Amino acid sequence: MTETRETPDRLGRLRPLGPFDIEGHDFAFDDIPDLHALIAAARERKPYAIVPFLGMPAVLFLTHDLVTAAFKDEESFPAAAIYAATTEPVLGNTIQCMRGAEHRINRKLVVPAFRRRIVTEQVEAILEPLAHELVDRFEARGEADLVTEFTHGYPVRVITRLLGLPMDDEERFRRWAVDLFHFPMAPDAAERASREFTEYVTPILARRRIDPGDDLLSTLATTEAEGRRLTDEEIMSFLRLLFPAGADTTYLGLGNALYALLTHPEQLERVLANPDEELQWAVEEALRWEPPVGLLPRMCPEPVRDWQGLGLDIPAETPLIFAITAANRDPALYPDPDVFDIRRRVRPTLAFGDGPHVCLGAWLALAEIRAALAVLLRRLPTMRLATPTRVRGLLGTALRGPESLHVRFGAEP
Ligand code: HEM
Repeated sequence: MTETRETPDRLGRLRPLGPFDIEGHDFAFDDIPDLHALIAAARERKPYAIVPFLGMPAVLFLTHDLVTAAFKDEESFPAAAIYAATTEPVLGNTIQCMRGAEHRINRKLVVPAFRRRIVTEQVEAILEPLAHELVDRFEARGEADLVTEFTHGYPVRVITRLLGLPMDDEERFRRWAVDLFHFPMAPDAAERASREFTEYVTPILARRRIDPGDDLLSTLATTEAEGRRLTDEEIMSFLRLLFPAGADTTYLGLGNALYALLTHPEQLERVLANPDEELQWAVEEALRWEPPVGLLPRMCPEPVRDWQGLGLDIPAETPLIFAITAANRDPALYPDPDVFDIRRRVRPTLAFGDGPHVCLGAWLALAEIRAALAVLLRRLPTMRLATPTRVRGLLGTALRGPESLHVRFGAEP
């Protein structure tokens, strides 16, 4: 790689970001069909690229090292700087908008509910039965769109069941989740969903404070750390966050895993032949190959000079893109990175972020995806894609998942 390191301006001014390295696509909202090829070509030139984001120049980090360093550099690129604008108006002051001591204490209060032991002991019991319930609804038909009939509804239902919320209202929760997810495009519907959700849950939370059960909402209501408990508003904003952060990510992650297996029949065969061993690696490899949080936007509130010794000055208010999807296909770490190969046996930890805001639901997400795939493959071992589909940017470029997964199964798929 050849790189010219410019010297800083004699007057101490920041060097300009330079011209766009990738043009013709806006990285905020465009679906970019040849994203992986564009990224690979740009990375051959430099470990970062200047790209259009809402028409402005943004810095897209392209290597595993840089994306990892960017996640860890909360001082230069605090999560709060972007989430305060993009999610706080509708979700409230969530832990994604917090920093420093407030973030540390709030994480201590919510993390116990998501520990691996809790997930193993309490959560797994609800995952497979729920997956069976969903398959029961379409199995006799011999065909289904797994996006609309399975992946979309499954993680929201997992969360509402974990919280101990009434199962009769699961369809209502699913609608609120969709509306909250679409906040940037339809703020009014998202604000209404947020209000209705709060009105619905507030009396239930009050009852759990007095008479806790063994559900997640009771754990959140009663956990203590550094001499305090979560306030009602902290719990409500955390619960609102669980829909976009916990359900939509998992829905797309499960979709991407199904897409990967259905478009690689030889690997699907390998999993079907030995699910106990292969399934977990299929999930890990799918999270590497097509991570659902593909291009995570951030903001740089204060100017940053010569970041990571790259000769890169970043002016205040520059958008940044933590390209997890690029990091996960960095050839320095993964040979033949574009190949989906479950024999790699790697855990692509960046799929869940890094640094202080690293995903706290990773164990839950992995358990959910594994359980859903296990049930789908056991019940529909002959499933094959009936209509071509592709992974695309959903809600702008940030999140990625298949647009449909229309499958046939049965005696003659
Ligand atoms: C495949 C599924 C999932 C993926 C790929 C994923 C990915 C991520 C990523 C990349 C972040 C970091 C965001 C940032 O730095 O701005 C994050 C944060 C977070 N995730 Fe996940 N996530 C998944 C599932 C879940 C689940 C199931 C839950 C909980 C039910 C969850 C809860 C959270 C929360 C609360 C945060 C914010 C943590 C903080 O700000 O301290 N996620 N997730």
